[in-house]
Amino acid sequence: MTEQDFIPKPYTNTLKQGKVTWESPSNIALVKYWGKRDPQIPENPSISFTLSQCKTITTLSYKQKEVTSDFSFDVFLDGEKKDAFKPKIETFFKRVEQYVPFLKGFHFTIETKNTFPHSSGIASSASGMSALALCLMSVEKLFNTDMSNTFFNQKASFLARLGSGSACRSVEGDLIVWGHTKHVAESSDLFGVKYPYAVHDNFKNYQDTILLIDKGEKQVSSTVGHNLMHNHPYAASRFQQAHDNLEKLKPILEAGDLKGFINLMESEALTLHAMMMTSNPYYILMKPNTLEVINRIWKFREDTGLHIGFTLDAGANVHILYPESEKVEILNFIENELVAYCKNGEYICDQIGFGAQEINN
Ligand code: DP6
Repeated sequence: MTEQDFIPKPYTNTLKQGKVTWESPSNIALVKYWGKRDPQIPENPSISFTLSQCKTITTLSYKQKEVTSDFSFDVFLDGEKKDAFKPKIETFFKRVEQYVPFLKGFHFTIETKNTFPHSSGIASSASGMSALALCLMSVEKLFNTDMSNTFFNQKASFLARLGSGSACRSVEGDLIVWGHTKHVAESSDLFGVKYPYAVHDNFKNYQDTILLIDKGEKQVSSTVGHNLMHNHPYAASRFQQAHDNLEKLKPILEAGDLKGFINLMESEALTLHAMMMTSNPYYILMKPNTLEVINRIWKFREDTGLHIGFTLDAGANVHILYPESEKVEILNFIENELVAYCKNGEYICDQIGFGAQEINN
């Protein structure tokens, strides 16, 4: 597939007004996407678990209008008008316009809400941009009714990527690869694909408990961080490492090798943050409590032999991943020992999920 394959033939029917709704989950990367070039092409392949509970629900209402040179839309978060979100959506619309050429012929109302607290540091761009991309696809499907489901999902992921890179991994589940690598057949820089190889039952219903360590706005956005990988002294070896890690992950996932899995996942998380610390300008997104939690996880793992591991996003929060079979003991540990390090004692229990869903209006 190339970009050209996502440019539709001229539409033959017209559409007056209506609305579509999608709920789309967040995802947590195991091998991290860090570094990109125009137009939203990743410098290295990544793989993530799609989540289940952390999601965005978006309704897109459309009303036909005269075609003008500008986009016309309003955005609401939890029923409140959010003009602050408009520039990001405007940029998204500009990037995707050639692939969904109906955009300037409608006024859109975008109503969105998240199941997780706003600015909790959970990547709302992944769930938010994928939900919006899916809504646009549902509108496009009304123009082009014989579109296959496979193409629908692929193009939704392609559009979502143009909104936020990691969003392309939220359309489907449960393990999604984005970024071309010879180690994963059919992998592409343009959209996410389902991980095509065997996955052991140890990873079925894998748990992700997210400790909200710091709920403030990030000091450095992901977009700025990605750009700091240009001319980064360790860029080339980091990008190569991501390919190598995708290769290493294959036997780990197949055999259900939980130790190997944790080792690779934690190394990826710390490498991500090491890239931030060795950028110029350099910065640190982990907080003292992030480190406290990591040390306690390591100690608990050593003491109990349980398969508890962590990963981090571009923020201070800690994602604790573990198999469902160890849920009781590990949740006990989290409640007794780790909640004290969370802001207002807040944490979110999630698990691996299977992708976005359309909601009937
Ligand atoms: C650290 O997808 O938020 O979470 O493409 O600029 O929107 P943009 O960046 P974004 O980057 C997420 C990076 C990450 C790692 C990952 O999810 O793979």
